[in-house]
Order: sequence, then structure tokens, then C-alpha cells
Amino acid sequence: MDKLIIEGGVKLKGEVTVSGAKNSVLPILAATLLTDDACVIKDVPNLRDTNTMLKILRALGKNAELDKGIVTVSSLKNTNFIADYKLVSTMRASFCVLGPLLGKLKKAKVSLPGGCIIGVRPVDLHLKGIKCLGADVSIESGYVVAKASRLRGSRMYLGGVYGSSVLATDNVMMAAVLAQGKTVIESAACEPEVVDLAEFLNKMGAKIKGHGTPVIEIEGVRHLHGATHTIIPDRIEAGTLMIAALITRGDICIKNVLFQHLGALIDKLEEAGASITKKDTTVRVRCKRRLRAVNITTLPYPGFPTDMQAQIMSLMSVTPGISVITEKIYPDRFMHVAELNRMGAHIQREGPHAIVEGVKGLSGAPVMASDLRASACLALAGLVAHARTSISRIYHLERGYENLEGKLERLGAKIWREKE
Ligand code: UD1
Repeated sequence: MDKLIIEGGVKLKGEVTVSGAKNSVLPILAATLLTDDACVIKDVPNLRDTNTMLKILRALGKNAELDKGIVTVSSLKNTNFIADYKLVSTMRASFCVLGPLLGKLKKAKVSLPGGCIIGVRPVDLHLKGIKCLGADVSIESGYVVAKASRLRGSRMYLGGVYGSSVLATDNVMMAAVLAQGKTVIESAACEPEVVDLAEFLNKMGAKIKGHGTPVIEIEGVRHLHGATHTIIPDRIEAGTLMIAALITRGDICIKNVLFQHLGALIDKLEEAGASITKKDTTVRVRCKRRLRAVNITTLPYPGFPTDMQAQIMSLMSVTPGISVITEKIYPDRFMHVAELNRMGAHIQREGPHAIVEGVKGLSGAPVMASDLRASACLALAGLVAHARTSISRIYHLERGYENLEGKLERLGAKIWREKE
């Protein structure tokens, strides 16, 4: 296993390009199960999670390879309807093969993904949605078994205790495209990645309207065909790089950014005093004055993304003043607090809040990545810390960032890998 070593203190400078969005590519690859035709997906990031989804597609009977950012998916044999525990348990997003398998084959057996370090993460909304479409659903030996002689469009409310659900919206949308009649999903997730999936499905011949709003309408069709699609840029990678510029008091231009997907983050960074300018799809980020602490509350899109909470906590931990960070999506997503404190941060957790008192500097330390975004948060802290930080378990980082260390290195960071 590798660990990441960072020697902090370098102001980042230069240009960097954002890769395709992880949270778009995973459901879009799953959606290729809805057709026997070939599909071509472009701007696919080479991530551990992408490769897990390709393995799942192959196990389900597809031929799927990633070559220079392009995935071509074609059918090798009849689609298998069982998604095995070994693959699903390594990545929660694999659960989104449930909707397309059920839509296409009218039966699916998909392992329950289980909890993870950031919380319990139930799938009740996924199951509620497919039951509304007329599927019989049971849990058998850790698997969700869903079947229907035919799926029927239906009106449903998919809001949960913590608001809308991204993957539940994706799953139900993918089952409903081949259902008979009209489906209306109320309290649908509005995330750009849901919109990207809906646009891919429409290219395949689906009839989806309202994606990007809380009410999605789907008119079922009999058949979907192959399509070619380019994945949107990863807004979380873009946001992580923006914070890398600010935490090092650097000046970087980030290319391939859809500014409109980053409204809540940019608003908070500007409130903190960052200078952020945009030209087409390039964003320049720098500090022209001292930053100040801001309060943050994570919310479903277009609110502040939970996937940026850990990274902005790194920034706030070295910004003068007190910042209250409230997590409203995953109240237990605070594993990074203890690791940041080991580096000299002053952060106190109180239920779903973290109270961050900005310190003058952090000091490098051996730390451990607990999940994907927590590992990005520790890398950001390492960029500004005095002396050397070593981050273990960086396979978490590889799940969702395409060559982050290479990108940071080209911006001037002293960062490299070593064997544990
Ligand atoms: C997706 C993203 C993940 C992001 C999250 C929230 C992908 C592959 N992953 O995960 O990076 O952090 O959205 O923006 O797109 N919930 C229920 N019942 C359900 C489903 C969810 O109560 O059936 C709860 C969750 O526990 C959580 C909240 O709803 O509190 C939102 O979760 P959800 O949007 O479903 O997250 P994912 O789609 O799994």
C-alpha cells in the first residue's frame, strides 16, 4: 500500500485541468445496461471507482473497457441480473445497477451495499421508488431481490429525513424510463450529475423532463438504443483545487470548470475574501487579502455540497476567526476532525457541528485517510503544514480523484508517493 508524502509551504501556481465527474460517470455507466446496443462515454476519469463499475458491467455480461478517457460498452452475452456482494460492497454507487437491471430485465438481485465510515446510509428511498413502479421487493441473504411482470409509471415522493437522494433519484429514473406510462418523482435530487444522467438517458431515447428541478417527469418508452455522451467536469475536484490555491495563498487557473455548478462554494469562498474570476470554462483563484472565517452548512444541491465539507474545514482551520461547520446530509461525516487536530488544528465537534478556531499554522504529522473527501482534506492541510505530512490509506483518494498528486505536483507542490 502506498502513502502520500507532502512537504508543505509552497504557494501553488500555474494551470490545471479538471477531469470528468465521478458521480456522473458511475450511474451513466450503469445506464448502459438499459440497452443491448453499444454506448460510448467520453471524458471518463481513470479512478478506482470507475474501474469497479467496469468490473461490475463485465460481471453482468457487458464488454467494457477504458482507453484514453473513453469507455466503449457493448453486449457480450445476455445481461446477468445478479450484482454480487464482493463488487457491490467495495463501492456504494454500484447499487445504482438496481434500477437499470429492473427496467431492462424486470428482475434484479443486487447486494445491499451496507454502511460506511461516513454514516449508516440506508436505501429505503431506492426501494420505495421501485415499489411505487410496481416491483415486488424482498431482502434475501443480504441481497435486494426485485421483480415485476411489468413496471408501471407512478407518482411518488422521494424526500427522506435528510432531503432528496442522488442515487435513489438515479435508480428510480433508470427503472422508470422503460416502465409503462408516466412517472413523476417529487423531491427529486437536483444535482448536476442527475441532470447529466437524464441527458444521457434522453440521448438513448428516453423521455425525461424536469431534471435539475425537484419534480422529474418520465414518459416510459418501449426500447432504448445506444448513445454517445461526454461526462460533465467534476465540480468537487474543481472545488478541491480552488481550496488548494487558497490554503497555500497561491494563484492558479483551473480549466474545464462549469462555474454554474459551484455557486454555493464560490459564494462562501468570496465571503471569506477569495478572489475568483472566470473566463469561459476557466477559473482563476487567488487571495488578494487576508481570508476570514465563514460559517458553512451542507445541504442538497444547490446548497453547499457535503462532498466539500472536509476540504473547506482544512481551509478554515488556518483562517483567522471561528467557523461553525454544520453537516446536514451525513451528521457523522467528521472523521477528518481528529486527524486535522493531530496536525495542530483547533476543532471541536458538537453533534452535527464542528467549531473551527483558525490557528496560525499546522504542523506536518503522520495521518490516516478514513474516506475519499477526508483524504483530500488531509492533502490540503499537508500543503500548508510546516514540515512533512504522510497520509496512509490513500486508496481512498484514488477512488475519486484522477491523479490529484500529479496535478498538485505540476502546480509546484512537493508531493510524492512512498511504499508503506
Ligand atoms: C451521492 C454521492 C456522494 C454524495 C451524496 C450526497 C454519488 C455516487 N455519490 O451519494 O458523493 O456525498 O450523494 O450529496 O453520486 N438517504 C436515505 N435513504 C435512502 C438514500 C439516502 O435516508 O434511501 C439519506 C442518506 O443517508 C443521506 C442523504 O439521504 O443522509 C443523502 O444521500 P444520497 O443523496 O442518497 O447519497 P448518495 O446518492 O448515496
